[in-house]
Amino acid sequence: MDPYRIPLEFYVKETRIMTKNTIVVGLQWGDEGKGKVVDYLARDFQLDARFQGGSNAGHTVQVKDGKFVFHLIPCGLLHKNMIGVIGGGCVFDPDVFFHELEALEKYDPAIKERIKISKFCHMIMPYHLLLDRIREESKHGIGTTKRGIGPAYEDKYARVGLRIGDLYNPEYFEKKLRANISRKNLLLMEIYHAEPLSDGEIYARYINYAERLSSMVVDEHDIFAEAEKNDQKIIFEGAQGALLDINYGTYPYVTSSNTIVGSALTGLGISPLLIGRKLGVMKAYTTRVGQGPFPTEDETAVGKKLRKTGNEYGATTGRPRRCGYFDASVVKYSARLSGVKEIFLTKFDVLSGQEELKIAVGYSNAGDFDPFLADQLQPVYEKMPGFKEDISDCRDFQDLPSAAKDYVRMIEYATKLSVRYISVGADREATIEI
Ligand code: GDP
Ligand code: IMO
Ligand code: MG
Repeated sequence: MDPYRIPLEFYVKETRIMTKNTIVVGLQWGDEGKGKVVDYLARDFQLDARFQGGSNAGHTVQVKDGKFVFHLIPCGLLHKNMIGVIGGGCVFDPDVFFHELEALEKYDPAIKERIKISKFCHMIMPYHLLLDRIREESKHGIGTTKRGIGPAYEDKYARVGLRIGDLYNPEYFEKKLRANISRKNLLLMEIYHAEPLSDGEIYARYINYAERLSSMVVDEHDIFAEAEKNDQKIIFEGAQGALLDINYGTYPYVTSSNTIVGSALTGLGISPLLIGRKLGVMKAYTTRVGQGPFPTEDETAVGKKLRKTGNEYGATTGRPRRCGYFDASVVKYSARLSGVKEIFLTKFDVLSGQEELKIAVGYSNAGDFDPFLADQLQPVYEKMPGFKEDISDCRDFQDLPSAAKDYVRMIEYATKLSVRYISVGADREATIEI
């Protein structure tokens, strides 16, 4: 027998790794219900990993113990066996983190033991928050969440950022912090005519965070190696949505990270083999918060009704979300970016009571969705009769009113994607599996 032959078990193991994990990503402009989806699926997983973004995210989970809004902490942690990983691709605001932790400790006093934070995460610093706010208040604002996300990623890519791991080398941290603050103060005073920041106070605050964070700081690769050894399953929790992706979204009205499936590879430093199932989340209609093009936006009574019924107000900033019709071309575009074929359709109950249902199946002045043309696209709508029944107690596709079933089939036909789950309410249980 050939001594160098790779044993069959190797291939079996590789195949098993490839199929057991799931990634959840948003296919619209964020707030698709990723929180609900991750929490719903989480019972089958042992690790929940965030890989990009920061506290700009607002992932809502509604269970019988109440409603929780997660910004930085992975939202699968309401399941008491789950380990949450905040990967190195995220930007980490210690202040927001400790507030969030405090709220969650009321639910599970030992939750801290289940949270692992990558030492590779860049930190949001007070000057990032200040710069985000000042820019937003100028005429160059794009409607950010003012959580310092853009300025923090800017520093990361300019190679002057400060990482969580740097906190444990106080001399290095102090030197870099002082250099950063003197540069930012110049900017603040000379360009923005704002007050300068004090480096002594910020240094003391962050060194204090270092101590409080220390038991949670890890190299996430150790966690993943351990998970693989123990045959544990990982759910990867995307933040924002594909149309907010820094490369392929409706630039410049986007966030400052990649929000598509590929981002999990770099944001956690993992092999593509670890990503098995790719699940896209989309609302049964469309919303967007902040500025930027939105071809199917409806500012008449229909949009207002969606906002009211769907309670469409930002989970992070409380801003009213812009609402409009489902846009099949947008979702087709997003699904292609992430190789998504399977869909978790959310907020379907919100459509009940609309006289007429409409989805955009294309544009009269263009073929496919193109972010470069997004502010000029003229949607072409397919119309269907609406349904009046309350569907929030429905747990079987067959029990949906026929107009509701037709709407789902229409979405599948127009997007060429397969709807595998339908959410009919914010609660974990309000879910139909197909
Ligand atoms: P995420 O950022 O993608 O996690 O979404 P958000 O949490 O920001 O926004 C989704 C909102 O819709 C939250 O308030 C959820 O509780 C709620 N939600 C999720 N799924 C459903 C659903 O199927 N029906 C209704 N009515 N609300 C839902
Ligand atoms: P989740 O994970 C919806 C939007 C902001 C703004 C743009 C840039 O809850 O779906 P940023 O603060 O990131 O620099 O803002 O991106 N945005 C979101 N919109 N859901 C989010 O996250 C968002 N995170 C950022 O409104 O238009
Ligand atoms: Mg949200």
